[in-house]
Amino acid sequence: MTKQVTNENINDKGHLLIGGCDAVDLANQFGTPLVVYDVAKIRSQIRKFKAVFEQSNVDYAVCYASKAFANTAMYQLVNQEQGHIDVVSGGEMQMALHAGFPASKMSFHGNNKSSDELKMALEKHVGVIMLDNFHEINLLGNLLNDMNTTCDVMLRITPGISAHTHEFIQTGQTDSKFGFDLESGQAEQAFKKVKANERMNLLGIHAHIGSQVFELKGFEMAASKLVDLAAEWKQKFDYETKVINVGGGFGIRYTDEDEPLKPEAFVKNIVETIKARTKATGIKMPAVWIEPGRSIVGNAGYNLYRIGSRKDVPGIKSYVSVDGGMGDNIRPMLYDAEYEAVMADQPLRKPIENVHLVGKYCESGDVLIKDQPLPETKPGDVIVMLDTGAYGYSMASNYNLNPKPAIVFVENGKPQIVTRRQNYDDLYELDNPLN
Ligand code: LLP
Repeated sequence: MTKQVTNENINDKGHLLIGGCDAVDLANQFGTPLVVYDVAKIRSQIRKFKAVFEQSNVDYAVCYASKAFANTAMYQLVNQEQGHIDVVSGGEMQMALHAGFPASKMSFHGNNKSSDELKMALEKHVGVIMLDNFHEINLLGNLLNDMNTTCDVMLRITPGISAHTHEFIQTGQTDSKFGFDLESGQAEQAFKKVKANERMNLLGIHAHIGSQVFELKGFEMAASKLVDLAAEWKQKFDYETKVINVGGGFGIRYTDEDEPLKPEAFVKNIVETIKARTKATGIKMPAVWIEPGRSIVGNAGYNLYRIGSRKDVPGIKSYVSVDGGMGDNIRPMLYDAEYEAVMADQPLRKPIENVHLVGKYCESGDVLIKDQPLPETKPGDVIVMLDTGAYGYSMASNYNLNPKPAIVFVENGKPQIVTRRQNYDDLYELDNPLN
């Protein structure tokens, strides 16, 4: 039984509460599978990150990495909390603009931004373009000439640090498709190219070392390397780095076995490292930007499913199926990600068995949770997977032509549908019949 749910998250019927709403009622009212976000948790996490900077008296930006979860309401929420965002495609940019998010607070990332996407970023006056490779410097240079304009840029550096996490989500090691390598001198070459272009205003440098990182050490090393690089460029080229962006990746708790520091503790440490290192190297304290994705939305999200069929393989195991699966959360299959689940109507009831909680997709690997402890269950019961808020819906698919779930935001006990459930008609909306 998870330590996550306590008497505080339960109402007088004994049902799980999400943001003050009864989880069984949410499933009944909006149907399943359903993605629910507790808005207060999202707001609180953004505020905690901001508080670290305010307390340290450092110029900053908390740029929500919107690939973790994006819809119109989410962009509006981040804007209400005066956050910045990181976008990685024309699609994310467009949705954020549609939500009224100020372009000036967007950072545009990506290792293969198209000419059209870069043009769009310039036309919409996106705050900063995070330059990732030489091809992009040329592409952007040409567009700036054609459009007779200028823009702010930063250089994405690969600092040669590999974070201890699942190998698919490492991005900071030297052998990476992202960014300019420090060791081989690519970073300096890129610096010179950008500085030679009067239309590009170099704000500073960026590194992202990985995702779901639990150790402070990786961030400390990356932050120090970035300051050292800034000091080197100051000394060699008299260039003053105005922004150091340390990316995201702050690990969160998924199961009782995870014991991460609080996400804001990582940031405190990073800020202190940068402060100490700038002092030691004698350069001016730059603004510090972070790009948390998972740590802002992960623990705020819940996936609600209804239990359907059950298969008991005598002497081996039991499979309990739900009405969603790999289409709404691919992470268990893709990364061996682990989650916990509780019954919506009896979250604290003592388990009587361990089962494989499986989805409804036509793949044996469609397992959401292995060996999930459960009390007695029956078809129709609502089960809630916890901490599904990051990279769940954002990586959802229509595999097997299952429609994507609805998304409900709850705040102060009030639910609101912020993304409607796909229906069957939506599934062929893009198709043309055969001529
Ligand atoms: N900044 C950059 C440049 C990134 O590449 C990423 C994530 C972030 C920020 C946000 O990282 P976060 O704080 O969310 O860890 N689909 C994978 C995660 C991929 C992360 C890719 N980059 C997953 O489901 O675990």
